[in-house]
Amino acid sequence: MRYPLAWSLCAWLLGVADAVELTEMFGEIRSPNFPDSYPSDSEVTWNISVPEGFKIKLYFMHFDLESSYLCEYDYVKIEAEDQELATFCGRETTDTEQAPGQQVILSPGPYMGLTFRSDFSNEERFTGFDAHYTAVDVDECLEKSDEELACDHYCHNYIGGYYCSCRFGYILHSDNRTCKVECSDNLYTQRSGVVTSADFPSPYPKSSDCLYRIELEEGFFITLSFEDSFDVEDHPEVTCPYDYIKIKAGPREFGPFCGEKSPGRIETQTNSVQILFHSDNSGENRGWKLSYTAIGNPCPLVQPPINGKIEPSQAKYTFKDQVVISCNTGYKVLKDNLESESFQIECLKDGTWSNKIPVCKIADCKEPPELEHGFVTFSSRNNLTTYRAAIQYHCQHPYYHMAPNSTATYTCDASGVWRSEELGTALPSCRPVCGKPRFSRSAVSRPAGRHLSQRGASPWIAMLSRGGRPFCAGSLLGNKWIVTAAHCLHNELDTENPQLRSSYLLAPSSFSIILGKHSTLRQDDTEQQMHPKTLLVHPSYRPDTLEYDIGLVELSGAAALNDYVMPICFPDQEQPRDTLVIISGWGKPFLQRLPETLMEVEVPIVEHSECRDAYARLHRMVTDDMLCAGEKEGGNDACSGDSGGPMVTFSPEKSQWQLLGTVSWGDGCGVKEQYGVYSSVIRNLEWLKKVTAVEH
Ligand code: ARG
Repeated sequence: MRYPLAWSLCAWLLGVADAVELTEMFGEIRSPNFPDSYPSDSEVTWNISVPEGFKIKLYFMHFDLESSYLCEYDYVKIEAEDQELATFCGRETTDTEQAPGQQVILSPGPYMGLTFRSDFSNEERFTGFDAHYTAVDVDECLEKSDEELACDHYCHNYIGGYYCSCRFGYILHSDNRTCKVECSDNLYTQRSGVVTSADFPSPYPKSSDCLYRIELEEGFFITLSFEDSFDVEDHPEVTCPYDYIKIKAGPREFGPFCGEKSPGRIETQTNSVQILFHSDNSGENRGWKLSYTAIGNPCPLVQPPINGKIEPSQAKYTFKDQVVISCNTGYKVLKDNLESESFQIECLKDGTWSNKIPVCKIADCKEPPELEHGFVTFSSRNNLTTYRAAIQYHCQHPYYHMAPNSTATYTCDASGVWRSEELGTALPSCRPVCGKPRFSRSAVSRPAGRHLSQRGASPWIAMLSRGGRPFCAGSLLGNKWIVTAAHCLHNELDTENPQLRSSYLLAPSSFSIILGKHSTLRQDDTEQQMHPKTLLVHPSYRPDTLEYDIGLVELSGAAALNDYVMPICFPDQEQPRDTLVIISGWGKPFLQRLPETLMEVEVPIVEHSECRDAYARLHRMVTDDMLCAGEKEGGNDACSGDSGGPMVTFSPEKSQWQLLGTVSWGDGCGVKEQYGVYSSVIRNLEWLKKVTAVEH
């Protein structure tokens, strides 16, 4: 409908037949017959209408109407909707009547009505009026600024209308006027936080439905604390009809809240809270601010284990709290039969701990590792193996001695490991004692010449036996090596082809080595039969000249050292002169039968040059790796079957017997002005030590 009802009704009441509709944006309105005088008894109405967003401006260029008291005869009346804007008559304004003059009449809206009326008589001739109107734009932004309907944030005027827009971050509501915020996506997952209405403490946005969710793990209870400063639009009689906060906490609901009284503290007793905040399209209120905290179910207090501690130590533990249990030095956490440095437990949502408190068990080094040829003694009377317990290693005295030190004390450390100050976790070793026989030959009662050896006086001697008969001798080095003559370890040479080495060495299984031996053919209580494993001859050995006539046999197992089985010591690095040596063996004295038991003979070392000269006569070479012993007048000597056997001497400095040579060869036995020839151990020491790794 173009015209409001009030205007039509008004027109109808006046009984106007003549009504001119003007809808242009501008126009001219003249009195009938203008510029001639207007007729009597006439009434014309012009209804001007312009589009929404415009007003109408009207002014007169000419005005000449009959004047009458209060314009009761002729007049021009200007109305807008149900309101009279002006009534004019006459030519000039008087006390009671008004003429328009320069006046401009402005309509409040887009409608204006102008009615001209003349009565039945005119006393003079009046020329009437000439008026112009034009549509003018309304600046709604100015006009509406105070009204309820003004734009919320920004107003933009244009000719014929206006529109609203919002500040950055806001969205124009579908009312095209208020600015709302998008605020349904607020999720809080921290255990504490602060939530406020948008823009707090500036007024909160209008027309908005904000949702704030706090979602924590099950087991937490959220407490909300609204600050005292609380301002949400309310109403004196009705409960929160405009803006309000509602809180949903599981099955419980709180609110609606509005007004200026803070809801204060709310214990929601849930782990999931929704805060709904609704605002309508008006009002300027500052909103609200809350902080929230969450606590979980408390767990019972825990006592640290004996010899342990709990960290962190708190007066109270609640859901999600974790504690670490660790033990004092020397103690280990024991849980499910597993030892560890620490153990962590957690307070669960139901207020129980995830695990029992483990116990602290003292570190236990357990039984100390066994030492070969040794044994352990405990410092404590009840053989403690726990933290700080001490033990001592010993070697089987007197057959073994300890290296590198003569004592070895170990203590059980905090990590449960036996540890010594000098060796750390490494064990000492028990090395065979060499060259110290239990049964010594007495110098006084020793008979001269080749004689029976005392049982056990040469515990290092080894018999090389084949088919129950001795064929060579050797000496024990360490507990699994036999040093002997190289020529004892190979078959007869093929004289045609002496360098042919196929099946040259004896098969290790073809002979045996007997330690602790005394009798030649009978069995001894003290004997240990050993099996050769590897045979080695000196790399420079020459079977034709017997240079480097020295070899080694590795035993398949270690010999048990005792009073009758003991290794011989290596010699000191210096060539002996004027030394008496003892040679032992089961060999056959020249032109005699095999002796019943081990025999020995004591002879002096002979000057190398003298020996060399003696053999030069026989065109035989005595080289530097050989050593000679014997007496010029002959008699005392080794003989056939003694090969490989020991030539030893006593070192008073070290108070031990040392091996100087091994029986190698000679011209006959005990021949006058001839000597027995031996392989020099000093000359071969490097090779012997390298191969056997024996150190004594
Ligand atoms: N070659 C001899 C043997 O096979 C050892 C000879 C030792 N002779 C001596 N006169 N020292 O047993």
